[in-house]
Amino acid sequence: MTASMGLKDMIACDTRISAIENDELSYAGYNISEFMDNNASFEEVIYLLWNLHLPTQIELNQFEEKLRAEYAISDAVEQCILIQSRKHLHPMSVLRSTVSLLGVYNIHAEENSLEVMYDQSIQIMAKVPTIIATFARLRQGLTPIAPREDLGFAANFLYMLKGEEPTELEVRAFNKALILHADHELNASTFAARVTASTLTDIYSCVTTAIGTLKGSLHGGANERVFDMLMDIRESGDTESYLRQKLDSKEKIMGFGHRVYKTVDPRQKYLKEMALALTQGTDDEEFYNLSQEVEDFIRHEKGLIPNVDFYSATVYHVLGIDSDIFTLIFAMSRMAGWIAHVQEQKKNNKLIRPRSHYAGQMELVYIPINRR
Ligand SMILES: CC(C)(COP(=O)(O)OP(=O)(O)OC[C@H]1O[C@@H](n2cnc3c(N)ncnc32)[C@H](O)[C@@H]1OP(=O)(O)O)[C@@H](O)C(=O)NCCC(=O)NCCS
Repeated sequence: MTASMGLKDMIACDTRISAIENDELSYAGYNISEFMDNNASFEEVIYLLWNLHLPTQIELNQFEEKLRAEYAISDAVEQCILIQSRKHLHPMSVLRSTVSLLGVYNIHAEENSLEVMYDQSIQIMAKVPTIIATFARLRQGLTPIAPREDLGFAANFLYMLKGEEPTELEVRAFNKALILHADHELNASTFAARVTASTLTDIYSCVTTAIGTLKGSLHGGANERVFDMLMDIRESGDTESYLRQKLDSKEKIMGFGHRVYKTVDPRQKYLKEMALALTQGTDDEEFYNLSQEVEDFIRHEKGLIPNVDFYSATVYHVLGIDSDIFTLIFAMSRMAGWIAHVQEQKKNNKLIRPRSHYAGQMELVYIPINRR
């Protein structure tokens, strides 16, 4: 028995939530292009992932009402964010600890029924944007802005972050970016969440596991590093020699390559379109142009494709989001998928406990410490 490194191409569970087939991504049977072409809302997609059918208007109204009623965070949670905002922690660490804290302040946190878990899911989903916007403002010495229940998920977040109502174009772009990141079958953080759920622990533990997993630079942390790279290239003034030097020293180029997609990441083209629409004719157009140069060079030199993180970096930057917050935005969106998978795992559970291949020595003889 030998191990498959990184569990590459292994099928670890059945799911009805999302599928990647022939370099296409679908959610509960709907190709993501359906949501992009028809201006679906992120709320509809969350509902779809959790219920496996699109909501009727009445179902959507009720769902949105429940979400909006849970937007606000308590003073206690805000205080904890304030303390963390002064400690030079990575923003993902702050999100991880604060989501965990939501469980501390929920008196039903240890209840495990599917009904209670559904309410907890709504609560977590609704409060994460408020946690992120509160943190982003507090660390800049700004007063947090209370959520507005008359705004949808995407618009409310941008409003809380910047203190002014976003434009229609900004809301549309952010809504699309949220949908595109919402689920991705058994990516590392979702797998981690399902492993945790399979032990029948609480939902706060499951999503905390997932946030910690997403933080890494080979997963969600890549988009932050894409923007840092674009800034470095802008400063160096020479895209080709910057990238060539990285490739020569065997460094990975962030935002390129994918474990599953080999010809195209289907999410990338929408993010690229958005990056163009948002930057055209503005000072930020140079980030779009730089990205295009990087894409052309890396495709030509390495045959690698840009992934979801590559153009999302420019989109988030133009929306006024700091680069070290990018991964939190990814988490805000992927939360929908994590929760869907936790719910699915719990509905038809089997403890996830694979085997390992032992590669060390055997039958060694114990030598007392005074003789070693
Ligand atoms: C996503 C990723 C982890 C997939 O990894 P994987 O399936 O394990 O593939 P590998 O890392 O084994 O890569 C296969 C080959 O392509 C190269 N490669 C893959 N991605 C690369 C990148 N971004 N830059 C440079 N080379 C890359 C590897 O060096 C390797 O080359 P080798 O066979 O000569 O050693 C990898 O492409 C990566 O690290 N990308 C950058 C981080 C990123 O953007 N992550 C977000 C993913 S959505």
